[in-house]
Amino acid sequence: MPVGIDKINFFTPNMYISMNDLALARHEDPNKYLIGIGQKEQSVIPVTQDAVTMAANAAYPIALDDKDNIDLIIFGTESGVDNSKSAAIYLQNLLKLNSNARAFEIKQACYGATAGIQMAREYVTLHPDKKALVVGSDVARYGLNTPGEVTQGGGAVAMIISSHPKLLAFEGDSSFHSEDIMDFWRPLNKTEALVDGHYSNNIYVDFFQKTWQNYKLNNNATISDFKAFVFHLPYVKMGIKGLRSILQEADDKLQTNLKSEFDFSKIYNEQVGNLYTGSLYLSLLSLLNNSKKLNSGDRIGLFSYGSGAQGEFFAMTLQPNFSKYNNSDLLNSMLKNRKQISISQYEGIFNSWTNSINDNVQFDVSSDHARFVLSEIKNNQRIYLERG
Ligand code: HMG
Repeated sequence: MPVGIDKINFFTPNMYISMNDLALARHEDPNKYLIGIGQKEQSVIPVTQDAVTMAANAAYPIALDDKDNIDLIIFGTESGVDNSKSAAIYLQNLLKLNSNARAFEIKQACYGATAGIQMAREYVTLHPDKKALVVGSDVARYGLNTPGEVTQGGGAVAMIISSHPKLLAFEGDSSFHSEDIMDFWRPLNKTEALVDGHYSNNIYVDFFQKTWQNYKLNNNATISDFKAFVFHLPYVKMGIKGLRSILQEADDKLQTNLKSEFDFSKIYNEQVGNLYTGSLYLSLLSLLNNSKKLNSGDRIGLFSYGSGAQGEFFAMTLQPNFSKYNNSDLLNSMLKNRKQISISQYEGIFNSWTNSINDNVQFDVSSDHARFVLSEIKNNQRIYLERG
């Protein structure tokens, strides 16, 4: 029985900065950001959005019809809003989901959503009449004037995992690798991540190699079994480095095809930046919505990486009629309707994004048109609003 991704959706807030502007403000050659890093734009997260609201905005349209069948809600995040209460409980309440459910949060840097969908896979395999909602939602923050600044961003991806999925089914066994690595971390007293950037790039490729080699051995597979590879994309160039590290295994024609599919898988990410645990799935969505050459039955390889570090490589197969569920018009209009702001406006917003540490503050929600917003923090409790 096939189990996999039945529906997938994405949300990012309604503001962005251009990487050309950021490069000029930081006295860098714009081509370093545009070509060397591979990013064009970066979402800016207002104080009225956080991991919970972004997840609710992403999940609302796909969870509506499945409210009664979802009884597993897994929230992958590394920018959670409370040290005890899970973001999944807030999400369950905002979406008015069934309360006869398991709802919890998972953290392992950018790997959280992958842990979530793999747990959901096993649950749905045992209970084929049930569905799971898995989200990856994060705000990627490194700090102004840091090398990581060009790789910030934020947003959420939500997925429904079911039996007989409309889009993609898991295939074969995953391969994993984990090791204690200090490449990226965020101490409890900080809202910005600390990172050993060049080291993290090397570890990423190393983990990809390890999991890919093991995957091939365990599943008796070769590169020619794959139509496309999608990667966790902290920034677009990182995925290119991953892909390049295996391309020599393919013949010339396949190399050209894999590079061309990769170009489709980066279209959304290069406009949004890193959304940490949702990034791999945004790239998958970008491939599904933008590639013209995918067919049902094609196998896609997915590499998930979470600093610290956990890597996993797994495969999914496109289901019959998957292309009927393309939601590119909606996503393109969400991205197109974002407002470009200046670097000084972004700096102001960045510095005021203290909503995880302040108490008794009210936020002006008038310029945030999302369905779910954070309106207030009162007595150390977060007050969320839903607008119709
Ligand atoms: P940097 O030191 O500012 O940049 O930091 P650089 O000097 O390495 O240059 C970047 C690239 O631009 C290089 O290309 C340059 O050659 C090129 P590469 O050698 O890598 O192919 N370049 C130019 N290209 C064209 N025209 C020019 C030009 N100048 C230079 N004029 C770094 C870059 C990514 C390290 C930094 O932004 C950073 O620390 N980012 C955050 C860390 C990160 O994203 N790591 C990725 C792997 S870890 C991961 O994925 C997990 C993560 O998502 C967190 C989690 O799991 O939760 C981060």
